This record gives sequence, C-alpha cells and structure tokens, in this order.
Amino acid sequence: MDASPKIRAHALTRSFGRGARRLTALGPVELDVATGEFVCIVGPSGCGKSTLLRVAAGLLRPSAGGLDIHTHHDRPAAMIFQDYGIYDWKTVLANVRFGLDVQRVPRRDADERARGWLARMGLADFADAYPAALSGGMRQRVAIARALAVEPEILLMDEPFAALDAQLRTILQDELLALTQSTRTTTLFITHSLEEALVLGDRVLVMSARPGRIIAERRPPFGRPRTGEVRSAPEFTALKDELWDLLRGEVDHERQEAATP
Ligand SMILES: Nc1ncnc2c1ncn2[C@@H]1O[C@H](COP(=O)(O)OP(=O)(O)OP(=O)(O)O)[C@@H](O)[C@H]1O
Ligand SMILES: [Mg+2]
Repeated sequence: MDASPKIRAHALTRSFGRGARRLTALGPVELDVATGEFVCIVGPSGCGKSTLLRVAAGLLRPSAGGLDIHTHHDRPAAMIFQDYGIYDWKTVLANVRFGLDVQRVPRRDADERARGWLARMGLADFADAYPAALSGGMRQRVAIARALAVEPEILLMDEPFAALDAQLRTILQDELLALTQSTRTTTLFITHSLEEALVLGDRVLVMSARPGRIIAERRPPFGRPRTGEVRSAPEFTALKDELWDLLRGEVDHERQEAATP
C-alpha cells in the first residue's frame, strides 16, 4: 500500500447560495483514504454526502479547505451518480462505452469491453436500447457498467445500488467486493444501508446531520479477501446496531432542529 493517501480532505467545507440564503452543506471534513482502501459513508439525508463526492470528482469546488486526489493519468477516477447521470440520447452500449471513448480506446476494443460489462450487469440484450426504455434499476446498472468499464483508479459511488431489488443488490455487492479486492481499486462509497457499508467497507464513516462532519468511524472486523458470508457473522449484527444508534441520534437531532421555528 502506498504511504500517501489517494484521497485527502482537509478542513473541507462547501456552502451554497448567498447572503441570508447561504447554507453550509458540508464540513469541516477531515478524510484520508489510502490506496486500495474501501471507505463507506453513511449519514442522514441532506447531510452533504453527495456534495462530498462531487467535490472529490472535481465537479464542485470547496468553499474552504481542500480535497486532493492522486491518480495517474492513464487511470481516471470514475463517479457513479445517485441519479445515474446517464445520457438519454445515447444507446445503452454508447453510454457504457462513453468513458472509453473519452480515453480514445479503439472502437472495437471499447465495444468489446462495454459489452462485457453489460453482460455482467445482465443487460446484454439491451445494448442497442435507449435508456428511456429501461427500468430504474436497469438504468442504474448501466451507470455502474459505465463507471467500471474504464477500470478506474478511484471509484466514487453515490448510492449505486439504491434503486435495485434486494437480490440484485446482494449479487452486485458480492461482485463489487470481488472486483475491488482483485483490482485494489480505491473506493469511496455512499449508502443509506448499514448492512451494505459493513459488507463492503474497510472503514465505515458516520456523518452528522447537515453540515455533515465525520463523527464516528468503525472498522468492520472482517479480513480480506472477504465474501458476502460476513453478513451472517455475529459481530455483523452488533456493529450494525451500534451504527444505527449513532445514525438515529443524528436523524433525531435534525428533526428537532426542523421542528423549531
Ligand atoms: N447545487 C446546490 N445548490 C444549492 N443547494 C444544494 C446544492 N447541492 C446540494 N445542496 C444542499 O446541500 C445539502 C446537502 O445536499 P447533498 O445532496 O450533499 O445531501 P446528501 O447527504 O447526499 O442527501 P441524500 O442522502 O438525500 O442524497 C442539502 O441541504 C441540499 O439541499
Ligand atoms: Mg445524496
């Protein structure tokens, strides 16, 4: 493992709007993600998780502090958006090929890789369809295939499995485990599911209510390589309960704030 972190945030904050309407969405956040590490983030709705990921992806600037990402030129960071971020005017195949086209991978090679990922996502028959013809879960799988096809050095995933049914979600969690463990892809993964965070993460970070700060960190005590079997470990349930207590405190806090005129 490299000594220097792949992702490092220091005193990172992000606000939106001006004057009386100014709202601090995030921070201050301190965060180090090591090379090859899989970090999961949980936190109440609206606490700034997507904002953090958008800053990491370079789509938003910090308002104060900073976030540095270290990648090599040939292997980009890839982001999977909470709302999919796929292009409705491109076919499914062209959507998955998109990042490869940007990298100028030769067409035939790119097509082959894109089709391979579509097959793994159970979408082989939909290569020539347009996203409008797909269900929400299928669109989400297109977004996942697109991100993984570029074999990114860093994966930024914003609730990538939220729209999927429980079975497919479990299958893709297990696939993502196998994939990130074999490629040692550094991953920052946002989820509302504590189970998901505990299955996947080397570390699980809990964010406070808005403006989101990191208020707790847990390391699921499961070694690597790991499989979905950890779901039935006794420590799993105990840790889930503990995280849920932390999270519930933040959600309650937020509701009380909202109820105060
Ligand atoms: N572009 C924007 N302009 C103005 N406000 C924004 C913008 N993006 C986010 N916000 C606000 O910042 C706060 C954090 O939003 P963000 O989307 O990061 O939350 P989140 O933790 O991802 O929530 P969820 O779990 O519901 O996805 C919210 O109050 C949101 O309204
Ligand atoms: Mg979000």
